[in-house]
Amino acid sequence: MYPVLSKEKLSENIYRFVVEAENVSRHCLPGQFLIVKTFENSERIPLTICDYDREKKTVTIVVQTAGFSTQLMTDLKEGDAFYDVVGPLGKPSELTGQTPEELAEKKIVFVAGGVGTAPVYPQVKWLYERGVKCDVIIGAKNKDLVIMEDEFKDICNLYITTDDGSYGRNGMVTKALEDLVQEGKQYDLCIAIGPMIMMKFVCILTKKLSIPTIVSMNPIMVDGTGMCGACRLTVGDEVKFACVDGPEFDGHLVNFDEAMKRQQIYKTEEGRAMLAAKEGKTHHGGCGNCGGEE
Ligand code: NAD
Ligand code: FES
Repeated sequence: MYPVLSKEKLSENIYRFVVEAENVSRHCLPGQFLIVKTFENSERIPLTICDYDREKKTVTIVVQTAGFSTQLMTDLKEGDAFYDVVGPLGKPSELTGQTPEELAEKKIVFVAGGVGTAPVYPQVKWLYERGVKCDVIIGAKNKDLVIMEDEFKDICNLYITTDDGSYGRNGMVTKALEDLVQEGKQYDLCIAIGPMIMMKFVCILTKKLSIPTIVSMNPIMVDGTGMCGACRLTVGDEVKFACVDGPEFDGHLVNFDEAMKRQQIYKTEEGRAMLAAKEGKTHHGGCGNCGGEE
């Protein structure tokens, strides 16, 4: 069992949990994710790690209530425990493989959309701890949905924008990014984490601006282990699995339209049956261990 040490409401339907998970906290890096089960028979929910503390043996996750399973999760209270926390899974952010000198040479902008703000945090913190203060754009529908402003404001140059203009700049993250570039900012790398539609439009913009862009394809994951086939996506001319090969990919090569269509189809039993008929079984060896359907 994995005890909940603290639970905090960040905004309507968004909660932050600090969970005791010694092994995960010892090995995890920014960009990786966990599979969390609330009870023994609960659905497995893939969640990107939002923070970790190796000394305190904790990991932090941020959960948005979006259905039955996430509701069960967010019903847990301080003192309760998650049944299972598996990880770290997926590949760490490529930033973690670079030296502080290499990182210092880059001008990096993060684009964080809504609840996608949480998984941006460990990467920004990683950079800050290595002497690099990057730019971060946080976008939310309105003031009440802006999360983690206090945590970000001391470790980066923070730009907040709201769709309705109720806080910070007015407009979506793409407008804020375009405005910053027009105001004279130059970037060597953009990292966008948020809803699929946001990442798609950030990539259209950064292609135009010639800024290499990394995206996190966590939203299309289902079981998070390479077994279900749900997170299959096309990156350039290659087939990848978000949970095994990612979750981060070159956003300019990701076929977002195909991934979003697949995400919709996968939601229904009929859709899953259709994919199974079209692709054989949905498992395509994404785990890298079993050779697919053999
Ligand atoms: P949201 O719908 O409130 O959008 C957040 C921001 O994204 C908006 O304020 C806007 O600035 C930007 N945005 C949205 N649509 C856009 C468009 N068409 N063009 C440009 N910018 C646009 O976000 P939310 O409800 O908090 O997000 C929930 C989604 O985030 C879920 O679908 C979840 O899967 C996803 N998510 C993704 C990751 C990841 O790793 N990529 C992590 C956590 C959550
Ligand atoms: Fe199931 Fe990746 S989430 S194969």
